[in-house]
Order: sequence, then structure tokens, then C-alpha cells
Amino acid sequence: MRKISLLLVLLPLIFFADAQTVPSIIGPDKMVDPWHYTSVKSLTFDKACVASAHPIASNVGAAIMRKGGNAFDAMIAVQLTLAVVYPEAGNLGGGGFLIARKRDGKLVALDYREMAPGSATKDMYLDKNGNAQNELSESGHLSSGVPGTVAGIFETYKHAKLPFAQLIQPAIDLAQNGYAISKREANGLNGNKADFVKNSTAPAALVKDAPWKEGDTLRQPELAATLIRIRDQGLKGFYEGETAKLIVEEMKRGKGIITLDDLKGYVVKERTPMEFDYRGHHIIGFPPPSSGGILIEQMLKMIEKYPVGSYGFQSPESVQLMIEAERRAYADRAEHMGDPDFWKVPQKTLVSDAYLAERMKDFQPGVASKSAGIKAGIAHESEETTHISIIDKLGNMVAVTTTLNNSYGSKTIVGGAGFIMNDEMDDFSIKPGVPNMYGAVGGEANAIAAGKRMLSSMTPTLVLKNNNPFMVVGTPGGTTIPTSVFQSIVNVIDFGMSANDAVNKPKFHHQWLPDEVMVEKGFSPETKAALEKMGYSIKDRGAIGRTELIKVLATGKREAAADGRGDDSLAGF
Ligand code: GLY
Repeated sequence: MRKISLLLVLLPLIFFADAQTVPSIIGPDKMVDPWHYTSVKSLTFDKACVASAHPIASNVGAAIMRKGGNAFDAMIAVQLTLAVVYPEAGNLGGGGFLIARKRDGKLVALDYREMAPGSATKDMYLDKNGNAQNELSESGHLSSGVPGTVAGIFETYKHAKLPFAQLIQPAIDLAQNGYAISKREANGLNGNKADFVKNSTAPAALVKDAPWKEGDTLRQPELAATLIRIRDQGLKGFYEGETAKLIVEEMKRGKGIITLDDLKGYVVKERTPMEFDYRGHHIIGFPPPSSGGILIEQMLKMIEKYPVGSYGFQSPESVQLMIEAERRAYADRAEHMGDPDFWKVPQKTLVSDAYLAERMKDFQPGVASKSAGIKAGIAHESEETTHISIIDKLGNMVAVTTTLNNSYGSKTIVGGAGFIMNDEMDDFSIKPGVPNMYGAVGGEANAIAAGKRMLSSMTPTLVLKNNNPFMVVGTPGGTTIPTSVFQSIVNVIDFGMSANDAVNKPKFHHQWLPDEVMVEKGFSPETKAALEKMGYSIKDRGAIGRTELIKVLATGKREAAADGRGDDSLAGF
């Protein structure tokens, strides 16, 4: 008895001492230099590597693995670091999906997507005339769902090895002492200043009088205090106590509806991964409430019976086939997909061979199909999300895609807590069946309901070959996510590309409605002309996704690519 009470007295001290004695890995003379860094875009590593949206975050992940952490430890540290160094999409106030395969073959799929608050209703974004008020679902306090990221991190921690304090300390150090921002981040902060000021009662660290410029130091003391509460109090450091109080106070200031009970009631869901074979490879995808896993399975299975590799990369034949697979898969998305705890998603049917054969029955090589007359459509989604791919020396593979939705989410910084809340409520169909301002429609499957999770496109994906790790892949990009992941997989498996080419070669996108093919800069002009002749409407657009791909070579080495479209970077050993 005496022993137990002594332990109870000592436990907080042990925890506290542990937290305080973690040696910092952040500093000019330490493992991760926050003042001088460059993006590493393409490299092959012997044992372990991380691909993420920011060099500092990837460097932290690699340092954690060097210190004995596994891919789960690294994933936790990278996510927490991104919440500091990549405020655009790295987050505490958002949500995400993790898919992993452990070295013993066990699969893990964690759904830490945001949940609609308890008082959310189907019509909450309609005015008294029934018109959709998109501005309310796209930014400001009312646009936020109950964040899941911190709960997801603690669920992930069940598979990690190192003390939690060690994994969160780099983020605390970076928030407290600062880091040099990139040009891209400076532009992002400057471009969103007006919204931060409008939406946030205390925009704090992200706003200053003079414009931000590359190399400026960004210190976030309020965010550091939040991270310290998470370090010292665990889940309660975010979902209860001071942080929860600050979130709810912020919500009240701006007509937000998240309550203390909503926060306390947040739960991570373990999902069953989607698994299927494609040309001798085993693909592991994320199920609903992501649409990504189903779409990837549909698209790959629809093209599998065709000799795509012999058609040639971005030949008119291969692109047309892939466009028609994309068109047909996306047509199912809005009508059939939503949170499976609220809507019966006909998952088995949607990916069955018979169903997919029927879908491709009217495919005509050389002739564009038409989307007209089809009822289902697509709800608009923001493209600002972020993806992390990690593999460790033991072969644990972890892929996480996480998001605030829009760039800088709701643009609402929680006063006193220093982090940005998501605007994920916009991923629901805010008025099912009626076109939104982008001319797209969503279905009942994804209508708002209290406690429901909004449909997502996030597609963290793993690929095995001969039952061994082969690929870890994912990307941000809203509705373009599944097509980017689809094309990256086809680039590797069908066209035999390196990781770097698979990621950086121009991509294209068709999502049924609008009935057009979007193509990136650099897309073959000859193929474009051939597609136009077949009847396709082609639209040039900016970058599609920011894919992070790790491919395991026959030698066991890890060939990795961080997307050239952003600050994305690799680190490893
Ligand atoms: N907010 C982007 C997505 O979840 O797909």
C-alpha cells in the first residue's frame, strides 16, 4: 500500500521530469537546424525515410528514427512539427486519416476526421429562403468541425516506442524559439492576413504589421503553451481543461457551435482498410468516410484489363482510358459515399468486378463519353491538405493525410491557444442535390448531421509486392487527390517510372462534373490535341497535388520523392 501511494506521489514528478529532460534536437548545432534548411526532392535511402510538406518536419522525423523511434514515432513527431512549421495545412485544429502496415503484416487504419458538432443540422448553412450560404461553411467559426488530429496522434502513439515527450518536444521548441519561414509560407501568411484579422479575435503570432518575407522568424508562444499542455496532460491537454475552454470561448466570439461536450466526446474510429490486387501488387486504401480508397480501387480495376503500359505514358490511348475510369468512379462519389456510421455505403458493390465491368461497358476507345444526364455529381472541396509518407528500417509503413480543408482552414486562430481551426464543415453537402457556387452538387449520403464525419478525398495508400512493402503514397489536392494517387500508382506499376518521375510528371484530372479534363503545365500538347479531337474539353490548370512517394527497390533501399510543386522535402538514412 505504501509503495503504491509513494508511486502515486512520484508519478507526476516522473512524468514532469521526463518532459523537462528531453534533450532538444532543434538548433543550429543540433540534429535539425530550423534556420538553414533546403528541400531534398529525390533521393534513395538505405533504411528509413520521411517525405513531407516541409524540410524541418521531414528532418525531425528522420532524427526521431535515428534515435530509435519507429515509423509511428516519426509520424507523430512530423505531424506535430507540421502544426508549427506549416500552419497552412499542418494542424492541431483539423483531422486526418492514417493507414499503416506494421512489420508483422498487421494493418492499422485510423479515422480522425473531424465530426460535426452536436448541434449541427442539415440546414445550418441555408438562409431563411433556403439558399446556401457558402461563406459560412468556408471560413470563420461556424465552418469548423470538432478537431480529430490530437486524438489521432494519441491513437497512433499506441504503436510507437519512444516517450511521448520526446516526440512532441521538437514542435514545442520550434513554436517557442521560432524557425525561419520559407518564401511560400511568407506569401501564404501575407495573402491571408486580412482573413486572420477579420476572423480571429487574437490573431497573435501569424499577423504582423510589415509583410512577412523569406527568412523571417516565426515564433508562436501560445501554440507552444498548447503543445506543452498536450505533452503534460495528454489528450486532456487538448480536449478538456484550458485548451478546450479557449476553443469554446473562441467559438462563442464568432457564432461557432463547438461545445466542451463536443470536444470531450471526440472519438477516433478504427476502420477496416480496403485491400485489393492490381497487376500482381496488393493495394491497401482508406475506406469511407474517405472516398479515396473506393475511387482508387474502382479506377485501377476499370483499367486493369487493358495493356496500359504498352499504350505508353500520356499517350492518347492511356490518358483517354484513365479519364473514362476517373469519370465513372467520380460519378458514384456524391451519390453513394458518406460517413458509413450514418449512411449505408454500398462499398462491396461499388468495387465488385461485375459492377465495374458494367460501368465500362459503354467505354469506346477514341470517343469521349459524356457526363450529361447523370444525376450524381461532386461537392466542392478545398485542395489544401498535407500528406506524409514514412517507412522505417524494419519495414513499418505509415501514410497520413491530414487537413484543415482550405489553406489556413477557417482562418480562425484560437485566441490564447495559437492554432488554426479547420473549415471542414464545407466538405459536407451543405445543400444536398442543389449545385453549389462551383456548379457542383452533393448527395444525401453526405448531408450534415450531428456527430457525422464529412466525406473526404484523402487517400493515404500503401502498396505491397510479394507481400513485402513496395510503396507508400498520398497527396493533398481535394477532389484531385484520388486521381493523383491513381496516376502515381499507374506511373510506377504500368509505366515503370522512378519515384521522382511518378510524382513530378504532369498530371490530369477528370471528376465527372464539370465534364472537362484538367491538365497541368507540361502535359503533352500532342495528346491534348488528340483528346480534343475525340471530343474532350481540356482546361489548363495550376499544380495538381503535392505527392509524397516512397518506393522500396528490389535491393531493399528506399527510393523516395518529395513533390517539386511545393517546399516538400525528404529526410532519412
Ligand atoms: N478537405 C479535403 C478532404 O478531406 O478531402
